[in-house]
Amino acid sequence: MEKAWYKEGVVYQIYPRSFFDSNNDGIGDLKGIVAKIPYLKELGVDIVWLSPVYKSPMEDNGYDISDYQDISKDFGTMDDMKDLIFKMHEAGIKLVMDLVINHTSKEHPWFIKSENKDGKYVDYYHWEPKKRNWSSFFGGEAWTFSEKRGEYYLHLFAKGQPDLNWDNENVRQDIKEMIKFWLDLGVDGFRCDVINIIAKNNNHPNGKFKLILKGSEHYFDNPNLHVYLKELYEDVFSKYDCFTVGETVFINPKTAADLVNPERKELNMVFQFDHMAADNHVVKWFIKKFKPFNLKKPLSKWQKELNGWNTLYLENHDQGRSISRFGNMDYYYQSATLLATIIYFQQGTPFIYQGQEIGMTNAHYTELSQYQDIETHNIYKLGRKFLFSHNSMMKRIKLMSRDNARTPMQWNDQIHAGFSRSRPWLEVNGNYKIVNVKNNQEQTKTILDYYKKIIKLRHDNEIIVYGDYEDIDYKNKRIYAYKRTYNKQELYVLCNFSPNVIRIKKYDFLNQKLILQNYSEITSEIMKPYEARVYLKK
Ligand code: NOJ
Repeated sequence: MEKAWYKEGVVYQIYPRSFFDSNNDGIGDLKGIVAKIPYLKELGVDIVWLSPVYKSPMEDNGYDISDYQDISKDFGTMDDMKDLIFKMHEAGIKLVMDLVINHTSKEHPWFIKSENKDGKYVDYYHWEPKKRNWSSFFGGEAWTFSEKRGEYYLHLFAKGQPDLNWDNENVRQDIKEMIKFWLDLGVDGFRCDVINIIAKNNNHPNGKFKLILKGSEHYFDNPNLHVYLKELYEDVFSKYDCFTVGETVFINPKTAADLVNPERKELNMVFQFDHMAADNHVVKWFIKKFKPFNLKKPLSKWQKELNGWNTLYLENHDQGRSISRFGNMDYYYQSATLLATIIYFQQGTPFIYQGQEIGMTNAHYTELSQYQDIETHNIYKLGRKFLFSHNSMMKRIKLMSRDNARTPMQWNDQIHAGFSRSRPWLEVNGNYKIVNVKNNQEQTKTILDYYKKIIKLRHDNEIIVYGDYEDIDYKNKRIYAYKRTYNKQELYVLCNFSPNVIRIKKYDFLNQKLILQNYSEITSEIMKPYEARVYLKK
């Protein structure tokens, strides 16, 4: 196994809009992130991934970019960005940006010129004189008519997010120049948005009948994907000390292995989504009761089957909070720390999403109007069109809306949770008086403290980073246990993923050194609800 800094580091994802508001306009900003660098240091993370801060009309909160080489006024200026890169580096933290290159905003000059059939921009996007039946990831149709051009354009996400035509060499050239611009400014890598769907069948035939994502057979697993990623790697990434992590939707370990195989020179790692379906039928709005085994099964599959480097995550800006989905509020501290133990002792690079480290929960909104997210509103409309009741749609939204992850970071028990002195762009979660950073810092035995311990353990023990993975008692529905092996060392994770007290086997590792636990009192062969332990045998 080749060693690398991005394998050994712990990544912290910041959703800038909701992290910290330095100028009190209700929106988090770059100066706000600078102000919280001491907090990131205290937590011990090595790398920060910033969700998009580029210029954007904000139809999809910045995932619709109108200028790749400028910063949105909501977040600050280019000088603020340079300052952030500098200060992060000064603090020993690397900075990774979001790279949204499947699509732009329809306000991007390339699209405006393409709509006008202007010179080299004519084919910068996907155009068709006749509408195709493809459907979008946000629900609804994926081809929309442009009055100006008199043709339909493809948008796999919102109407304001037209898909770029990657078969066009000029598009690829412009994108490469843009990536170089950021790397030259000192950025250390990129999280590449929906990167596995950039290559499409350019004849755009109608899609086969499907309930969701009609047309997806024309862009999933397109062989050109590998060609284009190689080109990016060879012409740009290989020239810098940086890493890439691709967001890859509907991916299996085999395709993922091709994407991250170091010899193929495409990406360094990918985010897969199998374990995010532990409480739904793959489409997140079709919810089902969560069962711990449905989390264990896919996680274990990726540990065993991916011939390559994994990413380890339970949350991001698109997912409901893990404690609300997979934990148990009656055992709040224990289940939050159990989840962290399960995921962050596996092999791969850990990603922590802002607020996860203090046990932030889903939003508890009651009205649809409290949600801001475009996907949430689209899905509500679509669901109602298909005759789902208001209550049924609200139940799904309460669990799955992306806004659950986007509520402002809860810094303290003061007004607006210390995020801003003005009314935030999205309502603060009502539990901020209890769940906040300050309480976590001042009290003993907190979730934050536990996260700090995990991060330190990863830094101090190579076995947690590089060790081989093996399940223990895989079929047990309540016990989640596994072993890591590295050189002559062994590490054991043992968790009771249930609200019951259970008697466990006399595992022979029970007499090894306990290096982490989420209960102060331990009875060797009895496990309390959501108890988590980590043993190290040297
Ligand atoms: C995935 C991003 O994570 C999500 O937030 C965004 O809406 C879509 N891609 C479109 O860019």
